[in-house]
Amino acid sequence: MINYQPASTRYDQMLYNRSGRSGLKLPALSLGLWHNFGDIDNFEMAEKIILKAFDQGITHFDLANNYGPPPGSAETNFGKILLRNLKPFRDELIISTKAGYSMWPGPYGDWGSRKYLLSSLDQSLNRIGLDYVDIFYSHRFDPETPLEETMTALSDAVKSGKALYAGISNYPAEASKKAFHLLRELGTPCLIHQARYSMFDRWVESDLINLLENEGVGCVAYSPLAQGLLTDRYLKGIPNDSRAAREVFLTKEQVDRVYHKIVKLNNIAQNKNQSLAQMALAWLLKDARITSVLIGASSTAQLEANLKSLQNTNFEADELNEIDQVLSED
Ligand SMILES: NC(=O)c1ccc[n+]([C@@H]2O[C@H](COP(=O)([O-])OP(=O)(O)OC[C@H]3O[C@@H](n4cnc5c(N)ncnc54)[C@H](OP(=O)(O)O)[C@@H]3O)[C@@H](O)[C@H]2O)c1
Repeated sequence: MINYQPASTRYDQMLYNRSGRSGLKLPALSLGLWHNFGDIDNFEMAEKIILKAFDQGITHFDLANNYGPPPGSAETNFGKILLRNLKPFRDELIISTKAGYSMWPGPYGDWGSRKYLLSSLDQSLNRIGLDYVDIFYSHRFDPETPLEETMTALSDAVKSGKALYAGISNYPAEASKKAFHLLRELGTPCLIHQARYSMFDRWVESDLINLLENEGVGCVAYSPLAQGLLTDRYLKGIPNDSRAAREVFLTKEQVDRVYHKIVKLNNIAQNKNQSLAQMALAWLLKDARITSVLIGASSTAQLEANLKSLQNTNFEADELNEIDQVLSED
């Protein structure tokens, strides 16, 4: 029996942005399940974070076949949370998953072949307990598989009804352009490109972001807090329960390298009456070309604090200059 009742106010505050020239709108903030939703994590907290997000108008939850650890467990746990709470609200949700990184042994569990993508999508649906996902992504560009093969697999996933939209992630600009062309020809235009983008990683600014705008493809900015570096998490050392303490995707050495910048950015944020996390999110939210900013969270407190970034996305020119100055320092 489902006891959860979502907040009746859930659509009052959130902004929804159209993804490129598609019909689909995504919340300005979406929630990703890369960390904190695996079997090694606290299930009750995972459930609380997801329900809190939905109560605040976050309709988009982002997964991938390999999220956990162990790989696959974030999908399984999300499926449990869905079944226990959100199943009646399936039509209010945008659930995405991806395939592209190593998932099972042998030559068919990695990269971009049709064999891998379509088998992986079936496995993801099985783990989540769904008939379809809303967005199915090719998680990374595969230089060895013909792009036609990967894009046809995405298009066929849509045509089979197992995904509603196709997306790509981490593709360089040139390969993205070809992918958009192929998908359009196949009758399943690319909905969105999911790319790493934060104050600390601005690679999309050189050519990808303008390409997406011209092609009418949306942009999801992931790791907008640089995995927690762009917050006050590491200002007073490395907490034991933090991502950097685990030294898997974020290392203590990475924290040390940017610490001086974190301190300065934190001062700029304080002068704006924002936390550093809120300013870092607002810095992305101010750009109309960004469809959604995809955050992670290990607690409901982090999520709630980050949602406040929507309340102030204005920057004075001198504030932007000051931020650029700090970011350009060695
Ligand atoms: N397509 C891809 O290849 C790809 C790659 C990476 C990520 N993604 C997607 O993007 C999502 C977000 O990535 P991410 O988790 O790296 O995003 P992020 O928002 O940059 O980092 C999230 C982490 O920052 C810390 N944090 C968040 N809010 C905070 C606050 N208010 N105060 C202090 N610390 C705070 C937490 O770290 P602690 O856990 O240490 O508390 C949290 O887990 C993923 O879940 C995934 O869906 C996609």
